[in-house]
Amino acid sequence: MILDLQAISPSERHSWLQQAVAPRPICLASTVDKAGNANLSPFSFFNLFSSTPPILIFSPSRRLRDHTTKHTLQNVLEVPEVVIHIVSYDRVHQTSLASCEYPKATDEFVKAGFTPVKATLVRPPMVKESRIKIECRVLEVKPLGTQGGAGNLVICEALCMHVDEDILDGHNEIDPRKLQQVARLGGNWYCKADEHSLFRVEKPNTTLGIGVDALPEHIRTSRILTGNDLGRLANSQQVPDIDPSFEDSRLKNIFQYYSIDPEEMQKELHLYAHELLRQEKTKDAWQVLLAL
Ligand SMILES: Cc1cc2nc3c(=O)[nH]c(=O)nc-3n(C[C@H](O)[C@H](O)[C@H](O)COP(=O)(O)O)c2cc1C
Repeated sequence: MILDLQAISPSERHSWLQQAVAPRPICLASTVDKAGNANLSPFSFFNLFSSTPPILIFSPSRRLRDHTTKHTLQNVLEVPEVVIHIVSYDRVHQTSLASCEYPKATDEFVKAGFTPVKATLVRPPMVKESRIKIECRVLEVKPLGTQGGAGNLVICEALCMHVDEDILDGHNEIDPRKLQQVARLGGNWYCKADEHSLFRVEKPNTTLGIGVDALPEHIRTSRILTGNDLGRLANSQQVPDIDPSFEDSRLKNIFQYYSIDPEEMQKELHLYAHELLRQEKTKDAWQVLLAL
């Protein structure tokens, strides 16, 4: 299926792109108008774009239904300051409530049940309950169009960050299992970063991996090993040598039962290597694959 993004309607385009480009982090942005009225709204067109200088960008779009602009955008044009809050799972419903289109002077802190506290460097109040609050100065607002759905990039320089110490691990780093950030996908779908969804991938940049193209052919063309398996193996510095001291009872059994049928034996060895790779036992998987 190929979607011609120019030919479909603005709301279809919005929906397909939102479903595809996901999960997106969510910021809860606190802003004020020039009279000092506070506004609180979530935005998932949001991310970190630079660390020196520290730049965050979020985008309040023009409404699809009538092309009008959102209060958050109007506010940052009046008072170019914002506090960006990172949204955790335990506050996702209050955050969603803050997205209701209340009339301009309505204080969404009150509506969503959040406690405003004074920021240290900027005028918009901070959400007390949020574990991470980032005080920002708005450097530039870049409109991307005038139609419904057109984004307005609010380019923010992060000035200071308040981090709740409860979410830190023993190394003074943020423990994602304690913070439990949420992200938005398409439609009503969200996801939560917790111990069930988090996993680690070893960084490939310290040593140069050999690459998938340099894997032995029976591995590269395997119908059993997955793309992830090949990625793990290809992250090795070289194809390892056979280790004569490698002892493994399952490997012995495979040899015993399948040596009369080389095709079946390759299949069994690949299945075993696949299991080992899933358990992050790359060295053992190599030895199993080199046994062929
Ligand atoms: C999780 C979530 C993410 C959202 N992301 C965006 C976004 O990136 N851009 C946008 O224009 N609206 C987004 N919305 C809708 C706005 O939050 C909503 O229109 C906003 O609260 C308007 O408020 P305002 O007029 O007070 O600024 C999002 C809503 C939710 C619940």
